[in-house]
Amino acid sequence: MTDADQVRNDVVEAALGKLDLDTKTRLLAGQDMWSLPALPEIGLQSLVMSDGPIGVRGVRWTADDPSIALPSPTALAAAWDPGLARRAGRLLAQEARRKGVHVLLAPTVNLHRSPLGGRHFECYSEDPHLTGAIGSGYVSGVQDGGVGTTVKHFVGNDAETERFTVDNVIAPRTLRELYLAPFEAIVKNARPWGIMTAYNQVNGTTMTEHQHLVGEVLRGEWGFDGYNVSDWMAARSTTGGILGGLDVAMPGPQTVYGSALAETVRAGRVPESAVDAAVRNVLRLAARVGALAGAPAVVTEPPAPVDGQALAREIAARGFVLVRNQEAALPLDAAPGRTVALIGAAARDARVLGGGSATVFPERVVSPLDGLTAALPEGALTYAVGADPSEELVPADKGFELRAVCRDASGAVLGEGSLPSGQVQWIGDDLPVGASYETMASIEVTGRFLPRESGEHAFGTRGLGAFTLAVGGRTLWEGVQEPGDEADPFEAFFGAPSERARIELTADEPVEVSLTFQVPDTTALPLKAIMFSLLHLGPRRDPDELIAQAVAAARAADTAVVVVATTERVESEGFDRRDLRLPGRQDDLVRAVAAANPNTVVVVNAGSPVELPWREDVAAVLLTWFPGQEGGAALADVLLGHTEPGGRLPTTWPAAFADAPVTEVVPADGRLEYGEGLLIGYRAYEAQNVTPAYPFGYGLGYTDWAYESLEVTGTTARVRLTNTGTRHGREVVQVYLAPVADRVERPASWLAAFAGVEADPGESVEAEIALPARAFEIWDEPSRGWQRIGGTYEVRAAHAHGDTRLTAILELQPPQMAGNHP
Ligand code: BGC
Repeated sequence: MTDADQVRNDVVEAALGKLDLDTKTRLLAGQDMWSLPALPEIGLQSLVMSDGPIGVRGVRWTADDPSIALPSPTALAAAWDPGLARRAGRLLAQEARRKGVHVLLAPTVNLHRSPLGGRHFECYSEDPHLTGAIGSGYVSGVQDGGVGTTVKHFVGNDAETERFTVDNVIAPRTLRELYLAPFEAIVKNARPWGIMTAYNQVNGTTMTEHQHLVGEVLRGEWGFDGYNVSDWMAARSTTGGILGGLDVAMPGPQTVYGSALAETVRAGRVPESAVDAAVRNVLRLAARVGALAGAPAVVTEPPAPVDGQALAREIAARGFVLVRNQEAALPLDAAPGRTVALIGAAARDARVLGGGSATVFPERVVSPLDGLTAALPEGALTYAVGADPSEELVPADKGFELRAVCRDASGAVLGEGSLPSGQVQWIGDDLPVGASYETMASIEVTGRFLPRESGEHAFGTRGLGAFTLAVGGRTLWEGVQEPGDEADPFEAFFGAPSERARIELTADEPVEVSLTFQVPDTTALPLKAIMFSLLHLGPRRDPDELIAQAVAAARAADTAVVVVATTERVESEGFDRRDLRLPGRQDDLVRAVAAANPNTVVVVNAGSPVELPWREDVAAVLLTWFPGQEGGAALADVLLGHTEPGGRLPTTWPAAFADAPVTEVVPADGRLEYGEGLLIGYRAYEAQNVTPAYPFGYGLGYTDWAYESLEVTGTTARVRLTNTGTRHGREVVQVYLAPVADRVERPASWLAAFAGVEADPGESVEAEIALPARAFEIWDEPSRGWQRIGGTYEVRAAHAHGDTRLTAILELQPPQMAGNHP
């Protein structure tokens, strides 16, 4: 413990001693959606939390208060660079400070157990070591800036179906070696100031009450000394929570803590010392972030300012994974006179981030069309939609100028709010000035729509309650949307869109639109919030005709660049995917374009794996994930060769969905068995001898590497390699261990460590890579301990899993016998 830690502890103890039971229990409950109450009597400011992980949204869910949007976590992980993750973290700390946020609700370090997982894009990898390394860098970076992190979701929130209640049945060894492993690594390496316990159960106990995993494992074994906050609305029991080690129940004001907790203590069902322990953790957090008077903040001088746009662009390119590049199709030949046909709906309306709580509102978005238009000479670029992946209505956005008008029961206007899209998401007291839950009777989303195209436009709604929809002054629909059978508390947010009416409109002729929502009684709701949306879908054009137009454009150009993408209704928090197909006619589009132009480059804009059935028929395939706000600029950088694509796959891309190791995420009778045990990701492909489309760790740069020597001394590997290509580059040297004649049941091989190296053409470099002790250990449940497995290991220096370039043998002594071994 440092001197500063000691001072903080003393201040915390003194502050705690001044609080009565009611104040203490009040501090453990959210006062609203994002914050804890201030306690001026002890000099405690209100602690403010915010999502995470690609930006800092702040306390308002609106584009009026923009944030830098970095690439998706899958993209950050694809850079295989904890140092880069640390720089991302520092930028986020800067954003948090700017927005008055003390604690970031990130990173998300659940594993890619199945590619169906709705929040796959928000997690890093299928591999616990890579996840732990990237997560550690991220946490260190945010906390370098004096802002807390909340590593989430502890543990087992690896899919979304029935996420509030599902009981994930996970064997102890699997839990330790896979799902807990990233949390353990991050807690030990980066000492996060917070953790978020998940909605789900693990082995019969809900995570907000899991004394064993929180009390014994996280705090006891790993020494975690941060605060533990429930996922939003996950805390269900006052005694279960406090005795299970849950410090804070969010959001508020109605929670199982606060006065309910004080009463429970007074009734003798819970000792006050349990409340004190939780308050101590919250006060320690406050002390660390500088929100408790008298306690020195951990960081008094924040790191040097970071240029957010530049970093977003850099990370995007560093995470792009080039998985195919026939005859050096990329970088593109940009000689004068060369032409590019850019094709795809997502090339114009870029999809830069995944849906759900990870959403932030960037100030600007550079689409592929914007990026390439800026980078190519005039006249070199044409654009065609080709195919529209979105078959469902989406929040009214392009062409709409909307505002929200709040009225009382008499129809008098109380206040107005600006609205960047048709989505109203007002949480807690974040209402337009003049409006309040008590006085508001209706909210009208109203304004002007300028259609881009003539034809039949569809309008719809999302959200629960009574609506009236009018377009061009005509009421098109009036009705009530009731909750479904399995009402998710966030249904208004993630629920399916409902089409309500269609109307013929003419391009460039503006019309008035209006959606009026009757405000329900919010007093009884656990969360005061207004959420509903006006949705729209432009005229359906004949898909064959659209493809034919794209083919004509491709034929006329030297190169065709097709951007294919998933949609918000495919990849989001709140639900899982059903398959890995690209939505709409996008596969047909790629096939048709590739047949018309041999120089077809496909850019895959998806946060998680999708099937690419045409992948062998195109010249190049570049995976760009959700590339963040500067994605289009980074894409131009990479396509034109200003930057090399730096990514390596953090997760295996299956050739077909059926090949994925885990293809079922729907619980049976509320239980989801992790029956595959240790065999997820590349471990499973190897065990089942299945060849994926692209293996874990795979990715091409713009230069070549020769692996020259591998030496292993003790548990350190030294790999020498030379850049044999013609330009500067970065290689990720991956070291896998494969036990020879194993005497225990283990996967055939696993990632032990990795390092990035950079070199100029002709230059040789050496990577010195320490193989961590944990890479040689297994969890032994009978002895409840880690056991080093001695024996012969093949050490593999590899470009990707299964692409081993050099091997060496390592003989590991068995551990000392009991007595010498703690
Ligand atoms: C998500 C969390 C998020 C929280 C607050 C929850 O639904 O699971 O990841 O931090 O909402 O937005």
